Amino acid sequence: MRVIAVVNYKGGVGKTTLTANIGAQIAAWGKRVLLVDLDPQASLTFSFLRPEQWRAELAESRTIKHWFEAWRMDGPLLPVASLISSPPVVNRHIASGSGTLDLIASHLSLGDVEMNLAARLGGAEVHQSTRHYFDVYLRLAAALARLPRPGYDLVLLDCPPNFGVLTRAAIAACDQLLIPARPDELSTLGIEHLQSRLHRFIWEFNRIVDLRSDQGPVIRKLEPVILGVVFTMVQLYASRPIAALRPYLMQTRELGLPVFDAMVRESNSHFAGAARAQVPAILSDQLSPALAWELRRLVEEFLARVRTAQP
Ligand SMILES: Nc1ncnc2c1ncn2[C@@H]1O[C@H](COP(=O)(O)OP(=O)(O)O)[C@@H](O)[C@H]1O
Ligand SMILES: [Mg+2]
Repeated sequence: MRVIAVVNYKGGVGKTTLTANIGAQIAAWGKRVLLVDLDPQASLTFSFLRPEQWRAELAESRTIKHWFEAWRMDGPLLPVASLISSPPVVNRHIASGSGTLDLIASHLSLGDVEMNLAARLGGAEVHQSTRHYFDVYLRLAAALARLPRPGYDLVLLDCPPNFGVLTRAAIAACDQLLIPARPDELSTLGIEHLQSRLHRFIWEFNRIVDLRSDQGPVIRKLEPVILGVVFTMVQLYASRPIAALRPYLMQTRELGLPVFDAMVRESNSHFAGAARAQVPAILSDQLSPALAWELRRLVEEFLARVRTAQP
């Protein structure tokens, strides 16, 4: 099982769209995929479920919010399996017998959980003295470790648009990271900032592991691999990014992060209606051949990078 966090603390860069499309395609290719919606806006959840379905079946007790709230260090745990739903419409599109796309839904008040966790840490700046550091940051990892067997081939964590406790818990729970970005000036600056926040968090976490190595159970150090930056909403002309975008594409490569060769073009007509249909664009019959080819090439590149990534 590989766990991949989809992160960028900017909103509207295509994290959720990419998570839904990559997950759905890999499931359609016969794999067992679990998507976890960590954003209180719950756009991933509502990409696959109608709000009334969510309200009737999940909102009361079966979202990631409930798992976080029920967590006890030593006490009984909410079984993770009870949170998992299998969105019906997309799974009808995943014709292959062995593949499935499952979802752990979010909740609109997941933001309260975030605030409670932050309070438990003792404020925005984390001090190594806090007793609850691992309790907070390893909560999500603990949930994933308790997933029912036989497990999933791939778990994708769709993060909220910030670098708060939930995003950091996702980083602590993942093997690899995917960074969607738009080719514009703010996103380029944003990636640089994200990179330094990431390094700082991983460094801090691992230092606290070292400091506490003589107390309690052994905690694995974090060493997530950045699979790469994927450019989304790219305006193309004659199948190439328009000239105005090229400086931003270049600047991102100069940051020293891996960058995907494949990109997602801007296409309002294909991506905007996907949530209504509860099927990501990549599995839609309405997809233009050019976009279908581009998206599948992106997913193939994603899988190749997942396979070869080394910490
Ligand atoms: N390639 C694209 N072309 C056009 N619109 C897109 C594309 N990808 C995403 N969108 C739209 O942009 C908005 C933000 O995308 P989303 O995936 O929700 O971003 P994030 O999760 O980073 O906030 C959504 O309305 C989505 O439908
Ligand atoms: Mg999102």
